[in-house]
Amino acid sequence: MNTHSAPFQPVSAQDLAWLGTDPIPAKPYYDPAYFELERQAIFMRTWLNVGHVCEIPDSGSFIRREIEFANASVLIVRGKDDDIRAFHNVCTHRGTQLVQAQAGRQSTFSCPYHMWTFSTDGALLSAPDFDQFHVGKKECALPRIAVDVCAGMIFISFAAAPEPLRDWLGDLADRLEALPVARATTFHEYVYEIDANWKLTYDNFQENYHLRFIHPRSAGAGTGAENPFGYPVRYGFHGQHRAQTIWANHNAPPPSAPAMIAYGKAAEAAGANGVLVSQDAKDYFALFPNFFLLGSPLQHFSHVVMPISATRSRGVIRLYWIGEDQSASERFAREYLMATARDIHAEDRGVIEAGQKGLSSGALKHIHFQTQEALCRHLFLSVDAVVAAYKAETALVTEVAA
Ligand code: FES
Repeated sequence: MNTHSAPFQPVSAQDLAWLGTDPIPAKPYYDPAYFELERQAIFMRTWLNVGHVCEIPDSGSFIRREIEFANASVLIVRGKDDDIRAFHNVCTHRGTQLVQAQAGRQSTFSCPYHMWTFSTDGALLSAPDFDQFHVGKKECALPRIAVDVCAGMIFISFAAAPEPLRDWLGDLADRLEALPVARATTFHEYVYEIDANWKLTYDNFQENYHLRFIHPRSAGAGTGAENPFGYPVRYGFHGQHRAQTIWANHNAPPPSAPAMIAYGKAAEAAGANGVLVSQDAKDYFALFPNFFLLGSPLQHFSHVVMPISATRSRGVIRLYWIGEDQSASERFAREYLMATARDIHAEDRGVIEAGQKGLSSGALKHIHFQTQEALCRHLFLSVDAVVAAYKAETALVTEVAA
């Protein structure tokens, strides 16, 4: 047991004073009109994580993603030239969706309706009796969507010309590239839908204030006598993105026997892959608007909260791994860690949905964030600033057009 760690000191209110202390309006957490502004100002313009390069390892490998808020089906394909491209999953003849499979590998994509066939770079290769048409093949390529990769993670943007991904990530780009997830070759995934606004859902994973009440058993090691709420050691703010360093409880009670085996095996595998040296082992990255990544070597954990409507969201939780499990005990370790993540999430789900019901009643004009809910406050302020800028921009356009 390590008793030589420095005593815990929460981040002071003074250090976070720049975020303000005002109550936060409740309406943006349930109002369809505000959600529509978020959709247009943020989600249709920014970079969004939709997968990892390990899902499309070979030429012709593809994944399909349904993005409800954009009313879009997106194909992400590795081409013959090894480049990754993203397309709308829509045949340019008369709009039929090309691909129904979630993932696969194909050298071409043929539309089932009239058999127009496209290459992995989106070009129209062939179309039966094409002489009868009044358009050239070049004009019939699949519609492109911006795509880029950082730390192995695939991001798309529906903006026509988004800023480069690395510019958007700023100083976090290099830190992300150094994380184990950049070398991941496989993952476990848990997808859930929830009756809650995306910010309300996301905020649950940005604050530790609830740990001792909602997770007394599963996440108890995250709290202790000197830090009863398990508050983070520090926060980091990087433009619209943010980070926190999780407190390590050196006096935590020993884990259960199965947990000991799982952690030991996972640590062994992580060590064998050289990932235990990660400097960001306790850092939790929150990329604007809806993506988390935990740099822990044991759990290369990511979580995306994709909005569906003002009060419904879809979460994708992943644990990334380097290499296949080589033995039954490694397999057990991976399954155990994934089951633990699901357990903890199952405990969260009820309170998030209960929160949505309360907010959607319209009974509250405001909600309140305390000092150690700084990341939740920062998310709202970031969202609201983008929404305000978008409203000003569109008002100006309307004025000029009038
Ligand atoms: Fe695709 Fe006709 S709609 S070939």
